[in-house]
Amino acid sequence: MRRVIVSGASRGIGAATARLLMASGWFTILMARNTEALQELAAPNPRMAAVLPADLANEADLTAAIRRAITEFGPVHAMVHCAGIMVTGSADNLSPADWRRTLDVNLTAPFIASRILIPHFRKNGGGHLVFISSVAAEEHFPGNTAYSVSKAALNKLADEIREEFRTDNIAVTTLMPAATATPLWDSSGFDTKDFTQPEDVANIVKTILESPESAIPEVVRLRRVKGNV
Ligand SMILES: NC(=O)c1ccc[n+]([C@@H]2O[C@H](COP(=O)([O-])OP(=O)(O)OC[C@H]3O[C@@H](n4cnc5c(N)ncnc54)[C@H](OP(=O)(O)O)[C@@H]3O)[C@@H](O)[C@H]2O)c1
Repeated sequence: MRRVIVSGASRGIGAATARLLMASGWFTILMARNTEALQELAAPNPRMAAVLPADLANEADLTAAIRRAITEFGPVHAMVHCAGIMVTGSADNLSPADWRRTLDVNLTAPFIASRILIPHFRKNGGGHLVFISSVAAEEHFPGNTAYSVSKAALNKLADEIREEFRTDNIAVTTLMPAATATPLWDSSGFDTKDFTQPEDVANIVKTILESPESAIPEVVRLRRVKGNV
């Protein structure tokens, strides 16, 4: 059975992705801080899911969780790095603490998890890392400095890993969704009715993970036909 770790699985895009992967025959290891939400997601499908609570901003916690996933559930074939936070602010009013917190969750956590998974993938003949980035990696959205910088750097991290480890049969995909209707927008005041839906993104992640080795989508930009909101 193929096994995948999905971070940020407690809600939003991560939860939709985990739900779809579980239903599609992937043993799905659900990672986030909200244990109760993860248990609720796993409950209807106990043979296809495991709950792995972790704070991705805490290096020791994250490292222990990834190691536990490997030792407890057997070889891991893929990880979808979906956990992320968006703290608004421009360079003149963003607090250094919010800057660091954003980079810790959005950029450093995928690096820490990848540095453990790469040798594991290598030992097992390959693997697939999917990084959920954002169109904000490439575009300016006012008052979104830390988030945009974290996603641009995440794209570069993905590029570096992809080129370094191609010959080890490790596939790397960067997926950049546009505005998606999830709790991330809860306090924004935006009407999210016409946004991309989390299930739309989940379908693309499934396609990416199930792509043959001869045709890996490496960089995917996902946007509404009408463009940004
Ligand atoms: N929604 C959008 O418009 C949009 C667009 C483009 C890209 N994205 C990206 O898509 C990804 C998912 O976003 P979303 O919209 O689904 O957000 P969301 O609904 O706010 O969910 C964020 C997820 O990240 C987890 N998370 C946050 N901080 C964490 C931490 N310290 N440790 C462990 N888990 C943590 C949360 O779990 P806990 O709180 O339970 O820990 C939650 O499961 C993010 O990387 C985001 O940047 C979103």
